[in-house]
Amino acid sequence: MVKEQLTIHLNIKIMTKRNYSRREFVKQNSLAGLGTAVAMGVGPVLLANCATDTGTPAILGGQKIRTQEWPVWPQWKPEKYEEQVLKVLRSGIWSRAEVVTEFEKKWAETIGTKRCLAVVNGTNALIASLTQLNIGGGDEVIVTPYTWISSIQAVLIAGAMPVFADVDPDTYQIDPDKIEAKITPRTRAIMPVHILGLPANMEKIMPIAKKHNLLVVEDACQAWLAEINHKKVGTFGNVGCFSFQNSKHLPLGEGGAIVSDDEEFIDRCYSYHNVGFPYGALIGAVGAGSVMLGTKLRITEYQAAIGLAQLGVLDEQTTLRNKNAAYLKSQIKNIPGIKPYKLYDNVTRAAFHMFAFRYKKEEFKGLSRERFLEALDAEGIPNLSGYAPFLNKQPYLENAFQSKNFKKMYSKEELDFNTFSEKNECPENDKLCIEAVWLQQNLLLAEKSDLDDIALAIERIHKNADKIKNQK
Ligand SMILES: Cc1ncc(COP(=O)(O)O)c(C=O)c1O
Repeated sequence: MVKEQLTIHLNIKIMTKRNYSRREFVKQNSLAGLGTAVAMGVGPVLLANCATDTGTPAILGGQKIRTQEWPVWPQWKPEKYEEQVLKVLRSGIWSRAEVVTEFEKKWAETIGTKRCLAVVNGTNALIASLTQLNIGGGDEVIVTPYTWISSIQAVLIAGAMPVFADVDPDTYQIDPDKIEAKITPRTRAIMPVHILGLPANMEKIMPIAKKHNLLVVEDACQAWLAEINHKKVGTFGNVGCFSFQNSKHLPLGEGGAIVSDDEEFIDRCYSYHNVGFPYGALIGAVGAGSVMLGTKLRITEYQAAIGLAQLGVLDEQTTLRNKNAAYLKSQIKNIPGIKPYKLYDNVTRAAFHMFAFRYKKEEFKGLSRERFLEALDAEGIPNLSGYAPFLNKQPYLENAFQSKNFKKMYSKEELDFNTFSEKNECPENDKLCIEAVWLQQNLLLAEKSDLDDIALAIERIHKNADKIKNQK
């Protein structure tokens, strides 16, 4: 063995004996490898292949690749944030007042709309928006089956009928080419959801809406600061809705926002969120008199203060998530059976609420996704399998159809669940739900080099798929 080859060999032995990372592995071996490459007259491509002894998977008793903690979420920085919040707590003014108004102004400015109304959560932002666009009984709203349940529940609560258009599995978004076939004389709106923080194809969806005179309610509950051609999502349709729940990128515990350029519409939403009192009526002005049907969806001053305190880091963190997602994608996209998310060409920025890829078990010797996820977890890479299949068929729909209101608003035929299920088949979504793998956004706040551990873990599982599958 020539000297350089021996050095590589020894390094491999040393590195496989302890808990190493891909980064360390490559670093340790690259210098020695360079010498060998020169001596043997081969280039760096072969060098990369040297680094394929990925060691015994942790699920089979090997040492886990990742032992360090990942960044936590939410990230509360007392020295930076607490003064603002304490001020509100000490003031005793906790119901909606100036701080909520300031938060609304800042969010509208950040997103690029004339107005914003803060509400208790994203679910109710959607419900308020639908009802104040006068969408209700007898109307149909075109929705995507790959979303958090709230998108569909909001349509049902408004009294409208969800109509499912299948997804584009590469992007996880509603497939614009599947929308027109779903339009009927009863269709009133399209609800694109920028799911996982990846923008839906608004440049294709908006012309369809315009052509058929439909309203567009953007569910941007996972897509803070995401952009299409430098325009923020949530500003393409008639209204955009956001969530500020604890897992979200601007976490207030619970919270939501409605944004729009339509001032009258936001005034109506305001009244709706404040028991029907006219816009601008003081909170607690019992003598104001209600002017319309309304409920109560106000957020508190301390929630708004928590939001304002963290607003300053959202942009910086979004940039980091974008950079790290692109890097991680580049590191795993050539592993057979791993199909990372795709962004539409017009996307200038995503939010990356999740880093998603599809897992093709046929390229992993038939190793099931569940077992793959367990193996990934064992390596110290937390993960999720994503949404359960059949949002377009789950029992909540049948339950809504059995309700007194739905029975009054729709015919027996319309509420026949078998017919509904047949009409709302979404085969691409069924497949996507079985193949998807999510890594949560906080992983993307790690150092770029930490992401190598994810790639190494996937490579290791791929290389040992047979053994993992046959483990007794
Ligand atoms: C796509 C989507 N829509 C709506 C919501 C509802 O938001 P909230 O949880 O604030 O009610 C969420 C929250 O997870 C969501 O992800």
